[in-house]
Amino acid sequence: MSRKPIIAGNWKMNLLQSDAKALFEGIKAFCADKSATVLPTIVIAPTFTSLSVVNSVKCDCGCGGTKISVAGQNCHWESSGAFTGEISVEMLADAGCSYVIIGHSERRQYFSETDEMINKKAKAILAKGLIPIICCGETLEQREAGVTDSWIAGQIKAALEGISSEDVAKSVIAYEPIWAIGTGKTCDSDEANRVIAMIRNVVKEVAGASAADSIRILYGGSVKPSTIAEQMSKSDIDGALVGGASLKAESFNQIIENTMTVMVK
Ligand code: PGA
Repeated sequence: MSRKPIIAGNWKMNLLQSDAKALFEGIKAFCADKSATVLPTIVIAPTFTSLSVVNSVKCDCGCGGTKISVAGQNCHWESSGAFTGEISVEMLADAGCSYVIIGHSERRQYFSETDEMINKKAKAILAKGLIPIICCGETLEQREAGVTDSWIAGQIKAALEGISSEDVAKSVIAYEPIWAIGTGKTCDSDEANRVIAMIRNVVKEVAGASAADSIRILYGGSVKPSTIAEQMSKSDIDGALVGGASLKAESFNQIIENTMTVMVK
């Protein structure tokens, strides 16, 4: 089973519209002379206010919008209503998104997102035909206490609760050890691969072998151009969710380029 790698850039709460446009144009220029079949799936998650500016430059290279997909960084599970400050999946789709990141550790930590909320969001995203990028990961304390696997297995089971095998197969999971996010401390590639293989087993348990074979599971946490080739060479790592290094076209494009050297699994 071959899974097309995904390189996703999570811009978090960074970049004004003009900077977002310039960065997106830099990534687009890099992709322009490469066919979609040799590129990984590229996903960019700008802030909500930059979605329209990014989409305005997205699809004019003749690729039909297939080379770079756009993601929301969060969503609400309801379609509309009195939820001040929230954004629905319909609104993200309307703004050109085909993916939505959910359950990022920063949202769990600073905005009290629970597994139950993440499950509702995943269902809403899939119901509208978009793809959730479901984040999971352990704190340093949990790692040191030896509960990494059971903690993550619990997060994944809760996030996928009640979702059909077919929808699980289309989804994306990002394993992001919290202690590796934005710290410059990358998780050892063999260890990241071990945890990701464990996640794949959990998916097999809850959604069957075919979904486990199809689902793409990314690593995230201080991914850099210098780390990606080794990470991508591992059996179960299907790509990366990149924060800091996605904020410069030079480093993000280099991550894409280095991924292309080890694309065929
Ligand atoms: P980082 O962020 O690459 O800056 O560590 C990754 C993420 O939070 O998605």
